[in-house]
Amino acid sequence: MKPVKVGVLGLGVVGGGTINVLKRNAAEIARRAGREIIVTRACARHLERERICDTQGIHLTTDPLEIINDPEIEIILELIGGDSLAKDLVLIAISKGKHVVTANKALIALHGNEIFELANAKGVVVAFEAAVAGGIPIIKALREGLSGNQIEWLAGIINGTGNFILTEMRDKGRDFDDVLAEAQALGYAEADPTFDIEGIDAAHKLTILASIAFGIPLQFEKIYIEGITQITREDVNYAEELGYRIKHLGIARKTDQGIELRVHPTLIPHRRLIANVDGVMNAILVQGDAVGPTLYYGAGAGAEPTASAVVADVIDVVRTLTTDPENHVPHLAFQENSIEDIPVLKAEEMKTAYYLRLNANDKSGVLAEVTGIFAEHQISIEAMIQKEPNKGTAKVSVILLMQMTLEKEMNAAIKKIEALDSIKSKVVRIRMETLK
Ligand code: HSE
Repeated sequence: MKPVKVGVLGLGVVGGGTINVLKRNAAEIARRAGREIIVTRACARHLERERICDTQGIHLTTDPLEIINDPEIEIILELIGGDSLAKDLVLIAISKGKHVVTANKALIALHGNEIFELANAKGVVVAFEAAVAGGIPIIKALREGLSGNQIEWLAGIINGTGNFILTEMRDKGRDFDDVLAEAQALGYAEADPTFDIEGIDAAHKLTILASIAFGIPLQFEKIYIEGITQITREDVNYAEELGYRIKHLGIARKTDQGIELRVHPTLIPHRRLIANVDGVMNAILVQGDAVGPTLYYGAGAGAEPTASAVVADVIDVVRTLTTDPENHVPHLAFQENSIEDIPVLKAEEMKTAYYLRLNANDKSGVLAEVTGIFAEHQISIEAMIQKEPNKGTAKVSVILLMQMTLEKEMNAAIKKIEALDSIKSKVVRIRMETLK
């Protein structure tokens, strides 16, 4: 059989890594795919730049349309990133009947519904394993390996940069900015690092995971998003003292009232496996009704880990060309006509436990006032510690662990507490999950 010809848009870290893996493992890949796979064309904005890959034998251009319009090319790899040019190119490629493999989480999270609709109409595959958690085959696991389950919830460390920052702050007492600069130098951070630290990147990935887990449309705009910029070493240390770690989690949970979709710093018990996922590594914990909890761990970014996922997608696409092109695995795991618009809960309707830190006057009666407010809102206290007075002030830090409650009730209680004469300062609030 003739080799399958592939065109690569974008020769950066992921594009370069993908070409390297396709070349190095060509023989094994052909044995798996049933046909040889070769990159015949690639495009980059600056052709003269030094690359991490050998482009010998590949026709290079600066014009992506030259590649998309090549009738011999059956699969387009979109490895440019961003969500404007990439979207246009992907839609053109699909409309010309090309299959697409992409590593672009923003593209799928923001425009996936439109892209998949066109792809289904044109009978082509758009594969995106590399868009979530780099090299971890979590899309495949959720879409195929767990397809007999009702997914109850999932929780993931799905941004390596954020996890690296929190880990270094905890282990080495390093400052936030210093660690972020290192993550940028290592090539893990997004072009705009606020996407990492403000939780946007994680929310893009959570949008995709939730859609595949529950059979709902992609709806990035409904995710509650909180970044890690407010996390201090003080809270990291108190959490540790109480037997918890602070992780930046993406959480999707199906409840009787609707679906919770949220990205925020979270205290989790330090004994949980996922609490021990450190540095730039990613992990996703998935709870299925039949299988119970399963955990997927690995590199969430980097040239070859991401290429591993891109190449696996290319092989999947080639298999459909070789065998049964009519019978694709549905893009979002559920059949196109079975996607349900299950309501996504508003932030105020979410239910979780909390870690709170108050900066209170060191005098009698303060705690009685605070606990009185919690009682008014039927919020139960799980544990409480009061620290020594803060140096040079008459203030003490009071740390409270609060049981599961509605976000709305907690918001109201915190507002009243912050207004107390004995407090008159912002209450630090970090959500807490047992992940049981
Ligand atoms: N900036 C992302 C991260 C890269 O740090 O995880 C992979 O999507």
